[in-house]
Amino acid sequence: MLFVLASQKGGVGKTTTAINLAACLGRGDGRVLAVDCDPQSTMIRQLGIEGRWLAVTLVDVLAGRAAAGDAVVADVAPGVDVIPAARELSGVEMALVAELGRERFLSDALEPITADYDQVVIDTPPNLGLLTVNALICADVVLAPVSCEDEASVQGLVELRATLAKLSRLRDTEPGLATLLTRWAPGRVLSAVIDAAVADLGLPPLVRVPTRAAVGQAGAQHIPLALSAPDGCVTLAYEQLAAELADPVQLRAERALSWDRFAGELVHAGARLRGEL
Ligand SMILES: Nc1ncnc2c1ncn2[C@@H]1O[C@H](COP(=O)(O)OP(=O)(O)OP(=O)(O)O)[C@@H](O)[C@H]1O
Ligand SMILES: [Mg+2]
Repeated sequence: MLFVLASQKGGVGKTTTAINLAACLGRGDGRVLAVDCDPQSTMIRQLGIEGRWLAVTLVDVLAGRAAAGDAVVADVAPGVDVIPAARELSGVEMALVAELGRERFLSDALEPITADYDQVVIDTPPNLGLLTVNALICADVVLAPVSCEDEASVQGLVELRATLAKLSRLRDTEPGLATLLTRWAPGRVLSAVIDAAVADLGLPPLVRVPTRAAVGQAGAQHIPLALSAPDGCVTLAYEQLAAELADPVQLRAERALSWDRFAGELVHAGARLRGEL
């Protein structure tokens, strides 16, 4: 399966989700390929990959100078390989505009190696430009994070859905569209308002990822939170997302169990705050 994180709204949790989803999927039996399609290169930076030492990146692949396999950095996390981005992707995007079949460069480039992986996770920039469109064309499932800190991220979802409708003429099959809430804070009015707005669009979230300072710290420490804090509630949410995407039927049965675990953790955290532990 190929998952694409997309929203033209910036800062909603696309990269955080791509990294932690890939890490959670990689902990299973299969192999995962993460593709950084964002010139900001946040994904590879947060994985501790130093861009200036890379001989080949997605830039070379999309420019036709290298095969996708040559750009793969292996084992950035257990079970996870990555194709890195670079700042020059913006220039490549502009050059693609003049090309015939410009929406399919990424899909064609990845085609020779996707069979080597069980899951592919693509991170995209905060716009619906040609790089994002190239990723959307490949997607089995488009994942749209909606931030509970920012009501405008619901608008990002509406625009993404409209873009997918327009792209349907370029594809034989329609990709699935799924949402998740990020920076979710149970009990906060804005979280409840955004949760309801997303449900009203007919796209109730697959998971609600709680807001935690540890997410930002993990980025700075160059290790996915799902690996550094395997029992934390953010990891739990991303595990739940990975399970839902890997096996939607199985998860429905597990979900109740997961939420019990999550509720247990909240009680535990509350007790710790009150100094009872
Ligand atoms: N669950 C969370 N709790 C707390 N902070 C979070 C959470 N998820 C994401 N963040 C923070 O929100 C900010 C934006 O996250 P992220 O970079 O994943 O968004 P993005 O959609 O990829 O942004 P961009 O559009 O710029 O690529 C980061 O500082 C990240 O640490
Ligand atoms: Mg990002």
